[in-house]
Amino acid sequence: MWYPFRMNAHLRFAILGAGHIAEKMAATAAHLARRGEIRLAAVAARDGARAAAFAARFGFERSYGSYEELAADPAVDLVYVATPNTLHAPHARLCLEHGKHVLCEKPFTANAAEAESVLALARERGLFCGEAIWTRFLPASAAIGEALRAGRIGTPRLIEASFAVPIAGKERIREPALGGGALLDLGVYPIAFALLHFGEDYADVTGRATLLPTGVDDQCAFSLGWADGRIAAATCSATAAGGACARIVGTAGSIVVPELVRCQGFRIVPFGGGESEEVSLPFECNGYEYELRAAARAIAAGLPECPEAPRSATLAAMRAMDALRAAWGVRFPSDG
Ligand SMILES: NC(=O)c1ccc[n+]([C@@H]2O[C@H](COP(=O)([O-])OP(=O)(O)OC[C@H]3O[C@@H](n4cnc5c(N)ncnc54)[C@H](OP(=O)(O)O)[C@@H]3O)[C@@H](O)[C@H]2O)c1
Repeated sequence: MWYPFRMNAHLRFAILGAGHIAEKMAATAAHLARRGEIRLAAVAARDGARAAAFAARFGFERSYGSYEELAADPAVDLVYVATPNTLHAPHARLCLEHGKHVLCEKPFTANAAEAESVLALARERGLFCGEAIWTRFLPASAAIGEALRAGRIGTPRLIEASFAVPIAGKERIREPALGGGALLDLGVYPIAFALLHFGEDYADVTGRATLLPTGVDDQCAFSLGWADGRIAAATCSATAAGGACARIVGTAGSIVVPELVRCQGFRIVPFGGGESEEVSLPFECNGYEYELRAAARAIAAGLPECPEAPRSATLAAMRAMDALRAAWGVRFPSDG
């Protein structure tokens, strides 16, 4: 979806947690700052020296050795939360309580109850709060939606999607206390893809998983079903190495997405031998610029959420993951 472009050149952007994805987002934010679109206000890490080094590397104005100090900084408008999954809810709450808008990494929280409570707080405070599910914001995602609406593959019936990356060695993937498992880290993308293109109103969800000795899912297969018979089938693995891909199959052909996550294009393939069409939509920077710009636009327009990734989609995804985890007996201490 596209809506009038109103950039807020004074949006003071901050990052909470200076890990792997924070570095990518910092590079994105530096790109937007160079173009005068946002300001690099501050970064916080649990270690002050690391935060200072991170700030110096990317050009943030201030750095803090605690998340509380960052949340209390009056010269910050938007905080990007980039900590492990079970910490998203407490860190988003911390920022909202200090009057900050929040863009929170995927999965938005570790379960749906946490998501509801964080969004209720954002509503109460009148603040923007959204999930940094970056794939939904990519130009290719909008273009796939347009191709489906134009009937390029007839009536869409099936989605197949997979994401397999060997990341089970990471503590945040192994540990229930950090909200680990393949589903929350990787499966969230096929779910987002399915909800974006088939709608949030799935009728049921079912699946199976192999668990790591720590009790979280190492890999899993699941499907979402819609009342009219459409099905989205997905697999994800934290020990297999296959990358991410997807296909939407309709009554007259298919849309093939060779890179589901870093999606910069797709192929429209008519059934029965017609000519395929390649659609190429390369990133301007590293792909995270679209979600950050969308958050800045939403805040400038006084919107509580980004139209590209509404809160309803976040909640629908969290509920699907809750149902799958419950069926597999995968529990986090923060589930209560
Ligand atoms: N959008 C994407 O493409 C993408 C890609 C990868 C990950 N993610 C998401 O981003 C989030 C972070 O993933 P990551 O790969 O960046 O992880 P990471 O490299 O481990 O970084 C996580 C950061 O969280 C902070 N943290 C605070 N308390 C912690 C604790 N008890 N244990 C561990 N870390 C703690 C640390 O920040 P400081 O010590 O610096 O304060 C750490 O640097 C996850 O929710 C993940 O799903 C998104």
